[in-house]
Amino acid sequence: MTTEATDNRIGGCIHFFSLLDSTNTTAYYLAQRGLPEGNIVIADAQSKGRGRLDRTWQSPPGRNLYLSIVLRPPIPVSHAPQITLMAGVAVADLLSAYCPGKVVVKWPNDILINGKKICGILTEMKSSPTGVDFIILGIGININMTVEDFDPELRDTATSLRIETGAPTDRLAIAGKLFQLIEKWYGVFLLDGFKGIRDAFLSYANLEGKPIQVVFKNDVQTGVATGIDEDGSILLKDREGVLRRIMAGDVSIMKG
Ligand code: BTN
Repeated sequence: MTTEATDNRIGGCIHFFSLLDSTNTTAYYLAQRGLPEGNIVIADAQSKGRGRLDRTWQSPPGRNLYLSIVLRPPIPVSHAPQITLMAGVAVADLLSAYCPGKVVVKWPNDILINGKKICGILTEMKSSPTGVDFIILGIGININMTVEDFDPELRDTATSLRIETGAPTDRLAIAGKLFQLIEKWYGVFLLDGFKGIRDAFLSYANLEGKPIQVVFKNDVQTGVATGIDEDGSILLKDREGVLRRIMAGDVSIMKG
């Protein structure tokens, strides 16, 4: 089913499916064939929901939000990862309305509540020699999952809005609010770049001054996080006091 609704950049046209392999895969396919900026592919369930690093994203029907937004920002390829951070701020604003003061954005693409993952963001890009052709911004938010709905190996590390608030929430209402917030923050990003997003991101990231470890493939870097750079990379001061900029990896805060 396809609906056309608003004059807005985001969500003017929404393509709804009851089941897809992955909304990112379908959105990418359609974007290659010209699907315009702001179109959204959304599914009630995914049979091959995907996360970063080839992880799977549990995607049962009737429970959560799985959606992918086609973006065509006029930016260089090196700025594309900033779209993930922009979306993190939008989702954090959204969830903070339900769980004030509890939402953390775990750089670069996870949203946590009470230390458990409630949302993952997967951006995929097609580029050409002149820059970004399109970006697929994929967002999965656990809305009405109960603890028992999660695969057993996820129960200690994943959560949902229902678990955190104690009540189910209407998925479509949440989707509508999410589109408005992406509209807002993507507009800021197009005007001002990541510098318009940075303060909001920092306020949700809760990283500064913390001892962290960043793992990227076989490389492990440790040190104290000193902030987020103007391009969205993490700034880390290592044991020798050398300041390093880190563009990719999985971050964890070290205890003690
Ligand atoms: C991650 O945590 O590594 C990212 C998870 C992203 C999941 C969403 S659900 C909608 C979209 N379609 C996918 O296959 N993945 C993203």
